[in-house]
Formats: sequence, structure tokens, C-alpha cells
Amino acid sequence: MHLKKQVISWTKPLKGQHMFFISILLQLPLSAVLASWSVSYKPGYICVFERSSVDFTCSFKYPSSHTLKTTKWFKPKEYQKQDGSHEGIFVYNSKAAEIDKLYKNRTVYAKQDQNCSLQLQNVSKSDIGNYFFRLETNYYHGKYTGLGGIYLNVAVLPFRVTVTKQKVNGPIHEGDSVTLKCSTENCTPQQGPFAWFKNQLLLPQATGNVLRIASVSHNDFGNYSCGLKNSSTTSADEILLDVRYSPKNVEITISTSAKIEQGNSLTLICNSNANPAATNYTWFKIRDANISFIGFDSEFSIKAASQKDDGQYFCTAKNDMGSQNSMIVALKVEVPSHRHFFLTATAVFFFVIAVLLVLFGLSIRRKRITPKQQSTEQTPAVTVTEEIYENLRKSLESEESHTSPIYADLKLPSSTSERPCSNSQEGSAVIYSLLSYKE
Ligand SMILES: *[C@@H]1O[C@H](CO)[C@@H](O)[C@H](O)[C@H]1NC(C)=O
Ligand SMILES: *[C@@H]1O[C@H](CO)[C@@H](O)[C@H](O)[C@H]1NC(C)=O
Ligand SMILES: *[C@@H]1O[C@H](CO)[C@@H](O)[C@H](O)[C@H]1NC(C)=O
Ligand SMILES: *[C@@H]1O[C@H](CO)[C@@H](O)[C@H](O)[C@H]1NC(C)=O
Ligand SMILES: *[C@@H]1O[C@H](CO)[C@@H](O)[C@H](O)[C@H]1NC(C)=O
Ligand SMILES: *[C@@H]1O[C@H](CO)[C@@H](O)[C@H](O)[C@H]1NC(C)=O
Repeated sequence: MHLKKQVISWTKPLKGQHMFFISILLQLPLSAVLASWSVSYKPGYICVFERSSVDFTCSFKYPSSHTLKTTKWFKPKEYQKQDGSHEGIFVYNSKAAEIDKLYKNRTVYAKQDQNCSLQLQNVSKSDIGNYFFRLETNYYHGKYTGLGGIYLNVAVLPFRVTVTKQKVNGPIHEGDSVTLKCSTENCTPQQGPFAWFKNQLLLPQATGNVLRIASVSHNDFGNYSCGLKNSSTTSADEILLDVRYSPKNVEITISTSAKIEQGNSLTLICNSNANPAATNYTWFKIRDANISFIGFDSEFSIKAASQKDDGQYFCTAKNDMGSQNSMIVALKVEVPSHRHFFLTATAVFFFVIAVLLVLFGLSIRRKRITPKQQSTEQTPAVTVTEEIYENLRKSLESEESHTSPIYADLKLPSSTSERPCSNSQEGSAVIYSLLSYKE
């Protein structure tokens, strides 16, 4: 089918073919004339950093019968036509006096046959615009401006980082695709290599002006900056890549003034890495295979630890993105041995005092009763009782701190016939220590 159509189209327009050849014949002299006049620019568009130099590469031709008189580079004024039909101001002119003061001493012209390349130095924002090359010969009509020209754009420093992602609205979440772009005002020269920094550290792999992260993770959270590698140009202001993520590395730290001992205060803190920071916490205690909620703050405090607080603890940290549990922390409240001893000693002391008071009360009753009931009986019994009492009083006064001798004295009067033994320190001490160990 295709082939047939082609055959038909070739055979049909005989008249048109003639016309075609005629038009070529007419055009030949004109194109020959045009071919002798030409200017070519390279490239048509340039973006350079301000304060740097730019090269306009340019070559030209003119009829060999002509003599070159004037060469010039011009820039149309802002309000003029930008197609090269208005000369505007002279950037370069073989008649030096014609050069605009804005460009004096800032250009280097090739000044070679058929080479119209121009270097423009210390470029600034005011240099933005179209540039054209024009040549004039000794002939009245020997004037030619290269069409198209070169458009110069000037990148104004400093660099800045912009972040774009697929979804326009809302924060950046883990898994999103994100693009960071290093750019300058007006345009960004495609010269490199670029340098990227994350929290002031160079990212060695990133050398383009675009840094693409296909799937962001919480590790990508941070401040980013960029600049030119091996250049003194200042790098961009940092921009925060604000990746939102659920709590990570949830762990419990224990803060206590001293050891985890009975009576000490201590605080369990639920730490986490989250963005935004975790707002909801839950504390759990495991004891005897029983999990119970114990708190909803980031901290769990115990004012005075006791063995009741023994157990395993863990916390859950939560933000809008999700939650995570901490590892389990086992808490064991120690009972210090010296305290144990002290408590026992105190208990013994009060016990002894109590017994003493009871006996003291009994002895007073006995003292009151005996004279009446046993008035006829022999006095020695009374004397013994009185002596015991006296002994007791003595020991109370003299050795209040030592409860032991009293104990020794008390034990003996059960048989009234025997006299209480003397205040033997050694013997009483043994009894005391025995008691204390029993408790
Ligand atoms: C250009 O340079 C010349 C000599 O180097 C100097 O005399 C002249 O003032 C300079 N012109 C401008 C506009 O800087
Ligand atoms: C034109 O002149 C420039 C500057 O002098 C030079 O770098 C370039 O190589 C020249 N081009 C040609 C084609 O000679
Ligand atoms: C470059 O131009 C700026 C003004 O645009 C000027 O302040 C600066 O001194 C110039 N630098 C050089 C090296 O000529
Ligand atoms: C990012 O920069 C800001 C402002 O300088 C600073 O407050 C913040 O701590 C930085 N963040 C990181 C992750 O370095
Ligand atoms: C987190 O805590 C806030 C304030 O206490 C409460 O309003 C919210 O419901 C809690 N969110 C969750 C998911 O528990
Ligand atoms: C678990 O603890 C709760 C509260 O502390 C208590 O009511 C419950 O009886 C306990 N269950 C078991 C099986 O120990």
C-alpha cells in the first residue's frame, strides 16, 4: 500500500517539478551572495556566575572583494528591539572611543581574520541581555549583523538549596522521593563539580547540582547545603530536610542519685528519636507474668524504692507517625545490709525496753503487795527484790546506751535464791549479738 502511494506521487506532478527547478535557478545567485556574509555564534545561550569571565565564540565571513573597516559587538538597550536591528551600546568597537564606559577595559577581542570571539570579564547582573556582532566594509552596503546573537544570563550568588517532592502539600515522610536542587538566582551554570554537605559534612558521591533521594529515611533528616567544589564561592545557607518519622531507638535510662536501694528515689526516662518528638508515652510493668499500665509520661518516678518496685519495665513512645516499644529493663531494689542490721538492733532495743518496763511495773506491784501479804515472812526475800530493782536502776542510769547488761540482769531473777550476777559486759554482749542475728 505504502509503495503504491509513493509511485503515484512521483509520476503525477510534472508541472510542479519544472517550477521547482526554476525557483532553484533564481535563488542561486542570491544564496551565493549570502554565503559570503555570515556570522556564527556559539553558544546561543550562556549562564555564568557573576564576577566570572565569559567567552562569546564567534566566527564571520564577508566577500573577499571587500575590505574590513569596522568590527563591533553591541547590546540593544532594554527598551529597544532585541533582534539585532538596533545597535544600542557598544561592548566592543574597533573604534575604541565608541565603547560604552560600562564595558571599557572588560573585554578582550580576538582581532583575527574571521574570528570575532570576545571575552567579557567580571560579569555582573547588568550585563544580562542579547549580544550581537556586526561588521562593516569599505562598501556602502557592506554592513552585516549576525542574526540570533548570544543571550547572556548571569547567575547571582549565593547558592540556595530548594527541596521538591512528588506530593506538593504536607510534610516529608519516610519513603518519599525527594529532590534537592542547588541553584543560583536567574540561572545555574552547568559547570561543576558541585559539592553537597549534610550537617556540614561533605557528601562525596553527590557532584551534580541536583541531589535525588529516591526513598528518604530518617537518616536523611538534617541540614543540607551546597556549593562549588574547589571554589572559594560561599556555599548555600543550610536547609532542613524535615523528614517525619515514627519513634526509633526507644530506650529506658535510669536516673538515680545513688544506688537503686530501698528508700532511694529514682526516675525511669523513656528516650526516643522521633520527628516530631514523641508526645504520648505509656509505661508498663511486668511482674509474675502480669503486664500492667503504670504511667503516661515520658518519665516514671519512684519516690522511695522498695521491693514492691522490683520487676521488669518497658515503655512505648508514640507520635503521629507511629510508635515503638523499648527493650525491657529489669529493676531490682537492693536492701542494704547495714540498714538491716541497724533496724534489727533498734527493734531489739525497743523490745528490751518494753520488757523492762513491764518488769518494772511488776516489781512496783510486788513491792506494794508483799509487805502486806507477807509481813510475817522473812525479810531476805524483800531485800533480794529490792537489790534487783536497785541493780536495774543502776544499770539503766549508767549504761543506757548498752541495753545488753539489763538484759542479762533480767534473765537471772527467775530464781530468787540466786543473786543476779555482776554486770559482766562480756556475757551480756554475747546474748545481745545472738539476738540480733536471730532477727
Ligand atoms: C582602562 O584602563 C586604562 C589603562 O589601563 C585606564 O587608564 C582607564 O582609566 C581604564 N578605564 C576604565 C573605565 O576603567
Ligand atoms: C578565536 O580567538 C579566540 C581568542 O583569541 C581563540 O581562543 C580561538 O581559538 C580562536 N578561534 C579560531 C577558530 O581560531
Ligand atoms: C567587578 O565589578 C564590580 C562591580 O560590578 C566591582 O565592584 C569590582 O571591583 C570588579 N572587580 C574587578 C576585579 O574588576
Ligand atoms: C540545623 O540547623 C539549625 C539552625 O542552624 C539547628 O538549630 C539544628 O540543630 C540543625 N539540625 C541538625 C540536625 O544539625
Ligand atoms: C496523645 O496524647 C494526647 C494528649 O494527651 C491525646 O489527646 C491523644 O489522644 C493521644 N494520642 C494517642 C494516639 O493516644
Ligand atoms: C495483675 O495485676 C493487676 C493489677 O496490678 C491485678 O489486679 C491482677 O489481679 C493481676 N493478675 C495476676 C494474674 O496476677
